[in-house]
Amino acid sequence: MCGIVGYVGAQSALDVVIAGLKRLEYRGYDSAGVAVLADGGLVAAQKAGKLVNLEKELVGHPLPAGSTGLGHTRWATHGGPTDVNAHPHLDNAGRVAVVHNGIIENFAALRAELAERGHRLESETDTEVVAHLLAERFGACGDLAEAMRQVCRRLEGAFTLVAVHADAPDVVVGARRNSPLVVGVGEGENFLASDVAAFIAHTRSAIELGQDQVVELRRDGVTVTDFAGAPASVRAYHVDWDASAAEKGGYDYFMLKEIAEQPKAVADTLLGRIDGSGSLSLDEVRIPVSVLREVDKVVIVACGTAYHAGMIAKLAIEHWTRIPCETELASEFRYRDPILDQRTLVVAISQSGETMDTLMALRHAREQGAKVLAICNTNGSTIPRESDAVLYTHAGPEVAVASTKAFLTQLVACYLVALYLGQVRGTKWGDEIEAVIRELSDIAGAVDTVLETMEPVRELARSLAHKDTVLFLGRHVGYPVALEGALKLKELAYMHAEGFAAGELKHGPIALIEQDLPVVVVVPSPRGRSVLHDKIVSNIQEIRARGARTIVIAEEGDHAVVPYADHLIRIPATPTLLQPLVATVPLQVFACELATARGNEVDQPRNLAKSVTVE
Ligand code: F6R
Repeated sequence: MCGIVGYVGAQSALDVVIAGLKRLEYRGYDSAGVAVLADGGLVAAQKAGKLVNLEKELVGHPLPAGSTGLGHTRWATHGGPTDVNAHPHLDNAGRVAVVHNGIIENFAALRAELAERGHRLESETDTEVVAHLLAERFGACGDLAEAMRQVCRRLEGAFTLVAVHADAPDVVVGARRNSPLVVGVGEGENFLASDVAAFIAHTRSAIELGQDQVVELRRDGVTVTDFAGAPASVRAYHVDWDASAAEKGGYDYFMLKEIAEQPKAVADTLLGRIDGSGSLSLDEVRIPVSVLREVDKVVIVACGTAYHAGMIAKLAIEHWTRIPCETELASEFRYRDPILDQRTLVVAISQSGETMDTLMALRHAREQGAKVLAICNTNGSTIPRESDAVLYTHAGPEVAVASTKAFLTQLVACYLVALYLGQVRGTKWGDEIEAVIRELSDIAGAVDTVLETMEPVRELARSLAHKDTVLFLGRHVGYPVALEGALKLKELAYMHAEGFAAGELKHGPIALIEQDLPVVVVVPSPRGRSVLHDKIVSNIQEIRARGARTIVIAEEGDHAVVPYADHLIRIPATPTLLQPLVATVPLQVFACELATARGNEVDQPRNLAKSVTVE
């Protein structure tokens, strides 16, 4: 949440910062602001709303040129999305500018203390106190990095801060506790950002800041210390995706591009992890095999879409390994005093690797002695760093707020973990598992086939743009897929959308069915677990008899559903547990098209941000 960029070098800081903010706008779009050191002073501009509003403002009131600066795109926590609350925040003399991501929990006490000392605070934010404290501390010590360390020692909560001071030319200072902050190391220029996407057009050389560290950036050097001022160890790494990965590449929306990228994302996530003989080689899972053999319970923690991947993972893990598995919303997990010990494997799933609820859940799990394996898409982010091991998904950068390709790759990673657990524990490697591994190797092609047949889904979505409600039903793996379809529709089309386990229908939800209500039904394969299939065909008949307009997602060759489907969406046949990889895709396309038809912002739905770095 909130995107931050800092720059010092020879280029126009404003240009670099604005270009970086464009890449980070997915993190929040309630307001945007910039500050630049120029002509011995500091100039700043802030505007409520999207970055485009700030850009218009800057055309009308251009800032003088400078080569040191910072910027911010906001997801509001304290105080509404107004110009006054927009970052950067300045001290009363207008010499220091600070941007912030996170929540400063003791800001009220600090604010009162500053007011007593005569400071005038104008915004409702928790951030403004930092600008005033920094101005005081810099006044006393004359060193911006030292001033930042002193201020950080007074702050409680989660914060990433970046600051510049008019009396510290060519210096940008950052601080990190919990929320992400990455350094981009260039030639004669350096960058700071919440996400490497902000600077990969300039450099692929990155340094990951750790917890409770302060960084001082100059044109020719980067110095990192802890909050006490002792030199700190950091990890340098190479960003291996190129700048075009974070561009729309001819698509109208990032979401459309990311949906289209799914076959490649799935193939990349499998690459090198299944060998020619059908065995899994997951050397990166650094948890010793001896420990994995002893695991007697798996607990999966995640939020939102990643949680839906976790629900499917539970079914796969229990079926293929026979180890009991629970999937839990990360935000609920630690508050219910979960029973964990050294034999529990906790799997934390997160695209961003920064979701605070998931991070807190994994910290809690490790405190109880459990081993934590992260499934994550973002190299160098906090969740993998704090886990015992990580299995990276290779979806590439996901920019649209609504998760699509990350979800499919999370599923692939979950299947790999389940199969790997089975392999190291010597689960009987039957025909079914061998078939699954073979199918998994070919699954990218099946996703591609689905994408090629989406025009009728788009047409259907457009025809439903006037509806208020859509329901989604599924059983077994189809139930999390139904939840995911409903979530996509809520967040993108702002429609009332609910996912139900089809078996629960008669226990209440069937009362919602009325004439012409669209109900999407995810039908399991008629092969394999055919009992599930037959039950859901009965459910379709029950709702259709009550007037529902049935939109049926069923595999090729499933003739039993034909008489009861008002709209039939075909997907390739896959083993039951893998079906979500193909069944989710039409639901993503459906939601995206409906959002477009309703005139909504596809990539930046209202009230949301991609990285939820507050609890
Ligand atoms: C929905 C969506 C969110 C995220 C959730 C977890 O489309 O994107 O529900 O899945 O906020 O985010 P990560 O995976 O980054 O932990």
